Amino acid sequence: MQRSAAETGKFITFEGGEGAGKSTQAGILANRLTRAGRKVFATREPGGSAAAEEVREALLTGKVWEFGPFAEALMFSVARADHIDKAIGRALAEGTWVICDRFYDSTRAYQGVTAGVPRELINALERLTLEGLRPDITFILDIPVEAGLARAAERRGGTVPDRFERQEVLLHERIRRAFLDIAEEEPDRCVVADASQPEAMVAEDVWEVVLQRLNP
Ligand code: TYD
Repeated sequence: MQRSAAETGKFITFEGGEGAGKSTQAGILANRLTRAGRKVFATREPGGSAAAEEVREALLTGKVWEFGPFAEALMFSVARADHIDKAIGRALAEGTWVICDRFYDSTRAYQGVTAGVPRELINALERLTLEGLRPDITFILDIPVEAGLARAAERRGGTVPDRFERQEVLLHERIRRAFLDIAEEEPDRCVVADASQPEAMVAEDVWEVVLQRLNP
């Protein structure tokens, strides 16, 4: 299909808690868009650019955690700024569609809501790092916490526990709620998908929305 060179790409993000299937859905959508003739850049956060991958390492091994949640929010944002500058922004400018597994809503939910970094600081970090960049669609993959945790445990190869630590469940409930609240606040950007359905059905729901809202 002939595409206009001036056309910028679309930006789609996936968000959700443990075991919601974000990476799987991001991959399925990337394949579909490729088959539809789009150039696609599939990426993830934290990471996605060389420098951001190094920050990812520091974040996921817990090195930054010692400095507290504000330091974490800063580091996720520093990584994001580089990811946008070196990868996402360039891809969109040349007409490539960008699919990102987690983006700034994860900072809002994890550092903001569950770790208690005040909203005005999160907002300030967003203004600084995003410079107006906003996903065209954000899919919030929603799944009841115990089902998500069971799925994640299974995927890690462990047996499915019949009971999770109450505290763990409560924390994940707050994350789930935080994502749903974001979806309620920004209904023009966010779409909640029922991630407790089989993978193929979730993928159909996602594709329907992409067909309706964008022009794949
Ligand atoms: P990862 O191993 O990529 O797993 P997944 O995305 O499948 O959960 O871990 C990313 C972790 O980083 C995850 O626990 C969420 C967290 N995170 C934040 O706390 N803030 C952020 O801004 C981002 C992007 C991720």
